[in-house]
Amino acid sequence: MNRKYRKTIIAGNWKMNKTATETAQFAEAIKPLLPKTRACEAVICVPALNIAAAQKALKGSRIQVGAETLHEAASGAFTGEMAAGMLADIGVKYVIIGHSERRQYYNETDFTVNQKIRAALDAHLTPIVCVGESLQQRELGVEQELLAYQVMTAVSGLSAAEMKRVVIAYEPIWAIGTGKTATAEQAQEICAHIRACIRKKYDARTARAVSILYGGSMNTGNAAELLGMPDIDGGLIGGASLKPADFAKLIECPAQVENG
Ligand code: PGA
Repeated sequence: MNRKYRKTIIAGNWKMNKTATETAQFAEAIKPLLPKTRACEAVICVPALNIAAAQKALKGSRIQVGAETLHEAASGAFTGEMAAGMLADIGVKYVIIGHSERRQYYNETDFTVNQKIRAALDAHLTPIVCVGESLQQRELGVEQELLAYQVMTAVSGLSAAEMKRVVIAYEPIWAIGTGKTATAEQAQEICAHIRACIRKKYDARTARAVSILYGGSMNTGNAAELLGMPDIDGGLIGGASLKPADFAKLIECPAQVENG
């Protein structure tokens, strides 16, 4: 983390979990557990259907409600999809883009990710852009080249001012939902590499302003070590964000890391 130059963000990714009723129950359970210290932004990205329920239930708390995906077009004949403007209109700020599950199951590519980032920024949303290598790609030793390609394609066409509004989430696919976390050193190496790529394309000021999160089996046991790394500015958390006590602890973690 480096709070002097950029935001620390603890974001939950609920994927296809919890009904509206369970969302309200989660909110009631977590509210009394939330830390008063504000060393990070706290976000939960929930299924689109439950955004309104989550907003209502978390109103007045420090947790913001985000979305898990959006469509790249502003409107039109795209049955079942939702546009950036619709999310902005109901007060959503954060949206996850290009999660590996969207890439794997719904044909999202680096090119559609680029278009979705454009749509999000145009609607004044903050995109949390997911990138990461597969186990096979890591075993081949091509992760640095791959990550450079993914990030550069994703942010193609963005001005430096727009780049500063993008959040990147490095999520090695082999660590998602597997209980296998990247070591803090592995995660730091890639996050620093991503920042170096942004520096090369833009400049040092832009690169140091971008929040880069780690995701992949982050939990209450490993978060402090990951967040202690200079280029890891938070987490995108799946499984552990579904449990109120765990997620509250994760929101508290940046303050603890900062205070040593
Ligand atoms: P996980 O998911 O924390 O359950 O590994 C992270 C993610 O997919 O964003």
